[in-house]
Amino acid sequence: MKVLALSGSLRAGSHNERLLRAAAEVLPSGVRLERWDRLRELPPYDPDVDEAGEAPAAVADLRAAIADANALLIATPEYNGTLPGGLKTAIDWASRPREDAALKGLPAGVMGATTGLFGAIWAQADARKALGIAGARVLERDLPIGQAHHAFHDTEHRLADPDLQAALEDHLNAFLEHARQDAAAGVP
Ligand SMILES: Cc1cc2nc3c(=O)[nH]c(=O)nc-3n(C[C@H](O)[C@H](O)[C@H](O)COP(=O)(O)O)c2cc1C
Repeated sequence: MKVLALSGSLRAGSHNERLLRAAAEVLPSGVRLERWDRLRELPPYDPDVDEAGEAPAAVADLRAAIADANALLIATPEYNGTLPGGLKTAIDWASRPREDAALKGLPAGVMGATTGLFGAIWAQADARKALGIAGARVLERDLPIGQAHHAFHDTEHRLADPDLQAALEDHLNAFLEHARQDAAAGVP
């Protein structure tokens, strides 16, 4: 199974990147996490540019990467109470053309890390909402990592608190089960 991983952060040293790295460490064999890291190359969605076939190459690359994946896993910070604009832009590009959208029917899950207390719960809720409206089959569940600057192990790719690490593993198990159920049901 190929899981495409998308971080909503462009920041070097991003806690959400670290969360994806921690996820990659514990995924079972047979599940490959593939990062898509060209978010900063995406302009805001423009229907005129899209319909004229003039979108930058990163758009086609994103759509192909999503189409080639069995599932999508997003790790997102929260910006001003919602998901970062760059991540929303990626969802917008991947939601069109409507009838043949890369996201259509794709199992998707979200998790989130912030330096604040609440672990990007609003960003995760909004990301799920946008993904669902875009046609993805969304796992309706959060993984909030608050105070992310203290949350990760200093030297290993995992969360420092064993309970939080267990919550990550539980979240990933639920995500993989969701992805497999969709595959078993014959959803493309
Ligand atoms: C523009 C901006 C807005 C932010 N708004 C929120 C917010 O609404 N809620 C929150 O918990 N954290 C907020 N933060 C803090 C980020 O969630 C925090 O910096 C987080 O570590 C960013 O994720 P990253 O480490 O993956 O880059 C904001 C940060 C920025 C730069």
